[in-house]
Amino acid sequence: MTGYILVTGAAGFIGSHTCETLLKRNYHVIGLDNFDPYYPRWVKERNLSTFKNHPNFIFYEGDFTDSDFARRVFDRHPITHLVHLGAKAGVRNSLENPLAYIHTNAHGTATLLEECRLKGINKVVIVSSSSVYGGTTEVPFKETDSIIHPMSPYAASKVMSEALAFTYHSLYDIQTSVLRFFTVYGPRGRPDMAPYIFLHRTLQGESIIQYGDGSSGRDYTYIDDIVNGIISAMEKTAQWNYEVFNLGNSSPVLLSEFISTIEEVTGKTVSRVIKPNQPGDSPFTLAGIRKAQRMLDYSPETSFKEGLTKTLEWYNSLDKVLMV
Ligand SMILES: NC(=O)c1ccc[n+]([C@@H]2O[C@H](COP(=O)([O-])OP(=O)(O)OC[C@H]3O[C@@H](n4cnc5c(N)ncnc54)[C@H](O)[C@@H]3O)[C@@H](O)[C@H]2O)c1
Repeated sequence: MTGYILVTGAAGFIGSHTCETLLKRNYHVIGLDNFDPYYPRWVKERNLSTFKNHPNFIFYEGDFTDSDFARRVFDRHPITHLVHLGAKAGVRNSLENPLAYIHTNAHGTATLLEECRLKGINKVVIVSSSSVYGGTTEVPFKETDSIIHPMSPYAASKVMSEALAFTYHSLYDIQTSVLRFFTVYGPRGRPDMAPYIFLHRTLQGESIIQYGDGSSGRDYTYIDDIVNGIISAMEKTAQWNYEVFNLGNSSPVLLSEFISTIEEVTGKTVSRVIKPNQPGDSPFTLAGIRKAQRMLDYSPETSFKEGLTKTLEWYNSLDKVLMV
């Protein structure tokens, strides 16, 4: 493939792994990130450091909601594909700052799609989330399920981003894949998410907060499986007009099992403080992944115990850890 892949959110958890794997597969990559302060800049710089000097990688620091900045990046390179991973992430934080989430995730997506329209870039991957399914209790979640009742500003902003992607596809012939990720974890994992927090606090001999009675469940999906799904969607987007895919593990882990797996892999006892469930959180997620298996050859192969073991190895290899 000639031309460049533009990856937004390149310094983040999933973006950095995606850039690294694209480079290993000989793609030319333009990475873009504004080091959003939701978690510290040094953590994101460390994410970038593993591939920042690769000869096929160019990095821009800036905000994709700023159309002048976005235009400068799009003007400079023959971009063929947009892989839009950058976002304000975090369901709970979105309850405190709703407008910031709507601005970055909805307006920001529109800004990038508008550049695609103006430059004739017609292969786009937009990243969404299992949270768009709201309080749906019927599992597995299917791509055809309704997404009109999101339960947090973050989820609503992802619904808006999907809606914009559909509009741009249908009006301007942009071939589009929308990917709904289900709780992604692994090395470089986000420090606001349970896998990092539980591992870190248990290893430091501190208690964790358990929300609810332990019966909630999440379809934890290992980073390498997600990256394979992203790159497959990017490569295959030219085969369709507009498709939505769930990317999950299709094997949910109950919170109580999660805690016992932490104990198994660390060899330590987890001390917990139990609090009520949090507003905005989905009680149970499970991805229906048949469509991704069929059309993207997606096949998640990392068990939760294996993925958590690899995450622990990464954590133990760090010179400096973020205290959470
Ligand atoms: N991690 C998960 O479990 C999960 C689940 C579902 C969906 N997602 C989605 O996957 C994508 C990546 O998430 P992540 O977990 O890697 O989060 P992350 O916070 O580690 O990465 C997002 C990156 O986007 C950057 N960013 C934010 N606003 C920006 C802006 N205006 N301009 C430029 N860069 C900006 C941030 O600085 C950050 O580095 C996001 O779209 C997120 O909503 C993640």
